[in-house]
Amino acid sequence: MKSYVVGNWKMNFSVGESSVYLHKLLQRTHAYRDIEVIVAPSLIALQPLSLQIDRKKIRLAAQTANPHDFGAFTGEVSFTQLRGIADYCIIGHSERRHLFHESDKQIRSSVASALRNQITPILCIGETDTERTFGETYDVLRDQLLGGLSGVSAEDITKVIVAYEPVWAISTTSDARLASPDEIASIIQFIRQTLNEHFGQEVGENIPILYGGSVKPTNAGAYLTVPGVNGLLIGGASLIADQFTEIIEIAKKVKS
Ligand code: PGA
Repeated sequence: MKSYVVGNWKMNFSVGESSVYLHKLLQRTHAYRDIEVIVAPSLIALQPLSLQIDRKKIRLAAQTANPHDFGAFTGEVSFTQLRGIADYCIIGHSERRHLFHESDKQIRSSVASALRNQITPILCIGETDTERTFGETYDVLRDQLLGGLSGVSAEDITKVIVAYEPVWAISTTSDARLASPDEIASIIQFIRQTLNEHFGQEVGENIPILYGGSVKPTNAGAYLTVPGVNGLLIGGASLIADQFTEIIEIAKKVKS
C-alpha cells in the first residue's frame, strides 16, 4: 500500500500565496511511486492550482464540499463542480463537525457524492477531550466511521481513505497533549478491526488509515511506524515548506 502525506492548509494563504507556495513545494518534491503527496488549499485556490500542479508529484484535495450536485444552495460548492479539479476531498474534519455542526448523515452523503464524482474521500474521525475523559472514544469512533461509510458499496469502499485525528491533539503546542504512538496503535487496531468486520478482512486491511494531530518533522517518523498507519494528515506543519517536505522525506525513508 502507498503512504499518504496530506497537507491541510485550512483557511490560510491568499490565491497568490497558495500558488507561490505550491511552486516551492513542486520544486522540492520528488515523484515517488509509493508516496502520495496531497495538499488541500482553500476552495478559492483549487481551480488555479489545478492548472499549475504536476500530478505526478502532488495531488489536490478539497477541504469540504456540498453533497448535492447542483441547485439552490447559496454559497456552496459541490463535488460535481470539483470533479476534474480535486482528486481528493477531506470529509468530516473535526472543525467541520464541531464548528459547522456537520452530522454523520451529512458526512455520509458527502462520502457518497465524492465517490459518485470520482473524488477520493478522506473521512476524518476523532474523539474530543471530553469524550476521551468519559471513556467514550471507541463508541464515538465506531459511530463516526460507520456513520460515514454505511451504504458505501463493496466496490467503492476500496476507494476510501480514513484519517484518525484525536480532536484534543490537533494544533497543540504542548508536548503533553500529543497522542502517544502506543495510544494511536490501539486505536488504529480498533479502526482496522471495525472496517474488517463490516467490509470483510480482504477489503478492510487495504483501506489506508492516516494519523493526524500536531504532526511535525520531530514526531512524523514515530507516527508513521505505528503498526497500521498508512500516512499522515498535517495541518500547521504543512504550511511551512521546510517542515512539509521534511515529512515527505521521512515518509519515504520509513517506506524504504
Ligand atoms: P495540526 O492539524 O497538524 O495543526 O494539528 C491537523 C488537522 O487539523 O488536520
